[in-house]
Amino acid sequence: MGVRHFLSLLDFSSDELRALIARAGELKTLQREGIPHAAFAGRTLAMIFEKSSTRTRVSFEVGMAQLGGHALFLSPRDTQLGRGEPIEDTARVLSRMVDLVMIRTFEHDKVVRFAEHSAVPVINGLTDLEHPCQLLADMQTWFEHRGDIAGRVVAWIGDGNNMCNSYITAAQRLGFHLRIACPEGYDPDPDMLAAAIDCATIVRDPLRAAEGADLVVTDVWASMGQEEEQTARRKAFADHCVTEELMARAAPDALFMHCLPAHREEEVATAVLEGPQSVVWEEAENRLHAQKALMEFLLGKGNAK
Ligand code: CP
Ligand code: NVA
Repeated sequence: MGVRHFLSLLDFSSDELRALIARAGELKTLQREGIPHAAFAGRTLAMIFEKSSTRTRVSFEVGMAQLGGHALFLSPRDTQLGRGEPIEDTARVLSRMVDLVMIRTFEHDKVVRFAEHSAVPVINGLTDLEHPCQLLADMQTWFEHRGDIAGRVVAWIGDGNNMCNSYITAAQRLGFHLRIACPEGYDPDPDMLAAAIDCATIVRDPLRAAEGADLVVTDVWASMGQEEEQTARRKAFADHCVTEELMARAAPDALFMHCLPAHREEEVATAVLEGPQSVVWEEAENRLHAQKALMEFLLGKGNAK
């Protein structure tokens, strides 16, 4: 078998994802209790960022340091990638020097092509199509609060974007039902939705989608790269704010998640983001623990020779 990558949640089985979530919890405890777990001394992670990032960059860099290794931040501005060196060549060169590569970029195809030419595991740190690392953290957060998510109902309110697509894959692997309330014209990826027809449904109306839901999730209306559409999107999504009224339709113990950064009073009311049902700060912290579990898996038993 070739090298295993993490470009989508669908690259891992349900059992592997559940094991990863459990291990993320263990690593969180080790970190909290100050117990060293630096099993990857001398290992290196290259991080290619073609889009901005706070959480992804910091969590991967800090995570690799805590595991005993080292992370390098690479941007197109100061590498040959920005001057047109093909992604396939970059993959072949970098993967002869580093042990792991994380990429955040626009076209999903770029990550796929990189992985095809890489001798080491590649992690999708967000593309226009998917954001699987965020889902590891979201699911860890859910499991910590509520146990397994199988059979639960998750309401996605807002854009059918990369996060929504990754929620579709999570529904497939972890057995929950996803109701998607997005305006027409802002649907998730049609192929991904078609492949998940049993567990993901477009509902359109945000209040209907939220009805009795166990988890309510949203994200920005204009993702990175869509800045010029901001005004049009503000109009299209005007009824898609997660308000206290919407949260009142969900299950009484429903949780609220947002991958952040958030725009208060656009996709989410301040009262919800800062309210008792919101777990967004833990969700952000769990990026660190979940990705440490992911790197450990890809450097260890996921790619055992
Ligand atoms: N949620 C997330 O990926 O945040 P950053 O864009 O800050 O990495
Ligand atoms: N959908 C957002 C997520 C940011 C973490 C974006 O792609 O910009």
